[in-house]
Amino acid sequence: SVILYNDTFLTREQGKVDMEDRGYQFGDGIYEALRVYNGKMFLLDLHMKRLARSARELRLTLPYDTDHLAENLDKLIKENKMENGYVYFQITRGAIERKHRFPEKPISCVLTGSVEETTQDEDLHAEGIKASLVDDIRWLRCDIKTLNLLGNVLANQDAFEKGADEAILHRDGVVTEGSTCNVFIVKDGTLITHPANHFILNGITRIFVLELANRLGIPVEERTYTTEELLNADEAFITSTGVRVTPVVQIDDHLVRDGKPGQITTRLLDAFNQDVD
Ligand code: PDD
Repeated sequence: SVILYNDTFLTREQGKVDMEDRGYQFGDGIYEALRVYNGKMFLLDLHMKRLARSARELRLTLPYDTDHLAENLDKLIKENKMENGYVYFQITRGAIERKHRFPEKPISCVLTGSVEETTQDEDLHAEGIKASLVDDIRWLRCDIKTLNLLGNVLANQDAFEKGADEAILHRDGVVTEGSTCNVFIVKDGTLITHPANHFILNGITRIFVLELANRLGIPVEERTYTTEELLNADEAFITSTGVRVTPVVQIDDHLVRDGKPGQITTRLLDAFNQDVD
């Protein structure tokens, strides 16, 4: 396959990372993952806006502007002749002798990007998934999409070992998000999700689903809610670039209502699918 390396295109085998890259040593970098439907990047502008924000928050200077990056990603998709799948790219602060603080003299960032082909729906589970509640032990800047994902990795593994598909994280009983997604509940016809602050990543899919809810006239509350509210919810679902809207029908040993995807969840998923298919 063809990869993007800074401003050039290489074969996967030609792409080499320096052992003193700060992304490799410190997780000092940012990333984005976005979907390609029918050869076109989905919600590209929102992803680029989030990338620019992540860069600002880490005081990382992008190697070139987001318009040029979008052009390169488009080329990458075409070079790989990919119709449906993912684009993943990341930018690290660059390679230099290991010191925690930023390099004194500016060095070049390292940007790498690749694609992964999927069928339209292999990541979708309309029948619902099982989740497990896991302590959210991450740092307090979960709003930045950084390469440092150890808290997410450990939570995801924990859920997997308990036989669940995803970890739903909570801080002292307040549900934040999933290890790879945002989490929504429905109670008495109202959609509820954690506000977009430093405790969660403001998912692009989250933003899109809130817009769909608006369009469909579904009332929304962006507020914190507890694990107890989650367990007593009428419906629960997760959102991400990979899974769109996926019902959560079981949480550990507890069924969400009757253990079937809820009505509002299904309406949102249908609306979502209509927009991308
Ligand atoms: N994960 N929260 C976390 C912690 C995430 O890692 C993700 C996405 C989301 C949803 O964001 P979006 O809707 O923009 O995909 C929320 C991506 C897919 C990943 O790490 O691969």
